[in-house]
Amino acid sequence: MCGIIGYVGSQKASHVITEGLKRLEYRGYDSVGIAVRDGNSLNVKKDKGMVEEVSNSLDFVSIGGTIGLGHTRWATHGAVCKANSHPHADCKNSIILAHNGVIENFVELKHELEKKGHKFASETDSEIIAHLLEDGIKSKTMLESFLSSLKRLEGSYAIVAMTSAGEEKLFVARRNSPLVIGVGKGEMLCASDIPAMLKHTKTFVPLEEGDVAVLSRDGYNIYSLEGAEVTRKQITVDWGLDIAQKGGYPHFMLREINDQKHFINESLASDVTEGKKLIDQHSRIDIVAAGTSYHAGLMLSYLLSQTGKSAQAFIASDYSFVAKPNKDTLMVVITQSGETADVLQAMRFADKCKKLAITNTVGSSVTRLADCTILMNSGPEIGVAATKTFTSQLAVIFKLVFPKEKLSNLSQIISQMLEQEDAIKKIAPTLVAKENVFFIARGGNVPIAYEASLKFKEITYIHSEAYPGGELKHGTLSLITNGVPVIVLAPSDATLSKLFGNLKEAKARGGTILSITNDDSIKNESDFSIPLPKNIDPILYPFALIVPLQLLAYHVSVLRGINPDRPRNLAKSVTVE
Ligand code: G6P
Repeated sequence: MCGIIGYVGSQKASHVITEGLKRLEYRGYDSVGIAVRDGNSLNVKKDKGMVEEVSNSLDFVSIGGTIGLGHTRWATHGAVCKANSHPHADCKNSIILAHNGVIENFVELKHELEKKGHKFASETDSEIIAHLLEDGIKSKTMLESFLSSLKRLEGSYAIVAMTSAGEEKLFVARRNSPLVIGVGKGEMLCASDIPAMLKHTKTFVPLEEGDVAVLSRDGYNIYSLEGAEVTRKQITVDWGLDIAQKGGYPHFMLREINDQKHFINESLASDVTEGKKLIDQHSRIDIVAAGTSYHAGLMLSYLLSQTGKSAQAFIASDYSFVAKPNKDTLMVVITQSGETADVLQAMRFADKCKKLAITNTVGSSVTRLADCTILMNSGPEIGVAATKTFTSQLAVIFKLVFPKEKLSNLSQIISQMLEQEDAIKKIAPTLVAKENVFFIARGGNVPIAYEASLKFKEITYIHSEAYPGGELKHGTLSLITNGVPVIVLAPSDATLSKLFGNLKEAKARGGTILSITNDDSIKNESDFSIPLPKNIDPILYPFALIVPLQLLAYHVSVLRGINPDRPRNLAKSVTVE
């Protein structure tokens, strides 16, 4: 949902920013722009399109100057076009800024500014901030104007702004959209996330809600909205630069699928002690999440229900319409980014209950709203489609419910399933031209079918749906005709015999059956089959099932000529409701 970056130092800013934008592109990729100050002039280049394409065609790196900012956009207000691309300037081109978030009262502010004579060049909500600043600096310093302008904004923002005159400084702020300061030697950066700055520093200061900061070559100062100076903790990361690179794989997604065999151990090492206590202390557990994380939530609700707990998973954006949390409720939020607006909104709605967050992002907004946080430790995920963070979520969830010893050979199971890639590559061409694909499973494997179907549709653009097998006969069977693929998740556990019946129902209507199984009768009935290991604890099947289905989605996507790392219309971190 938009990536922003700022740089002030001694290097060529256009170069640093263009490189950073490439690492931020997963946050939004419909348009991109850069602004660099050289002496007393601001040079701006922007257009619709992806970073590589636009930065080459407009020759971003030809701009001189050592202070600047950049933005990669995922459109919310206004069409995807050059005028709506960031950065945005005031009337005189003397203030320029990039913004991530949504200004909810922008219509009202725009009217007010128009009445004062301001002329707008775009349809965006973001541009009003530049004009508010312009109005303010008539009588105030830039910092004073920044503070008073921010106070007028309703909604969410991460902002980086600079002026064409005066001292070379970056003015940054965050509220409900992430922004991290990167502390270098003789140079300072800020960006929506850490990987964009790793080439320059390993020391960071995640800004907190409502923080405002001023960055110069010599350092930074952080203020509250009231202008009082505040201190924030510096963190150091030990990530290598390669963590945000493809590491020899053609796509981030393939790297991240393969990395699951390593990161699963990092996630299993997470400390769940306090989380377990909270679950034990509460009689009702509401699990709240979106997208892939919701499927992890369904898994947690299944596992807790098996232990006799009253647990239910909710889609975050719907939570406030359907749930009635009370003081005996524990809300468990699962969110990779820790910034998903729907999740944050649900947390604010459930103001009476305790909250446990499971997230991958240190210092993210959910961690501030939660009473207790479990970090997944899966490292940055760049591919828009969540893969390694899903298995990491599962690892944490399983650790909340089962003793750690039960989970000790997960890495080995994932490695075994990754070895099926060649077999999966051979199956992928049979799905490339299909219009619909169905996934069925039963019991604890149903969340995996949902996740596999989501993965499949989001990166192949082929319609897919997933069901508990028993539901086919209640409607969907009418869609199963000759050659319609039905993917059956059929490990030999308690679900097998009933699922076998569902497979036969689909087969009798001409469906093409692809199974993932370690049962010979299922395999014999299938047109294609991917083997599951025989001797694993049945509770671990979800981990073994999801890996080949991630690979299948990936290979079908690539065969269809799609970039699986950046599926159309989607963004990795969705900070709007
Ligand atoms: C977006 C991403 C999904 C992700 C969902 C929830 O839609 O494209 O991959 O599952 O947000 O994100 P979260 O960060 O809350 O897990």
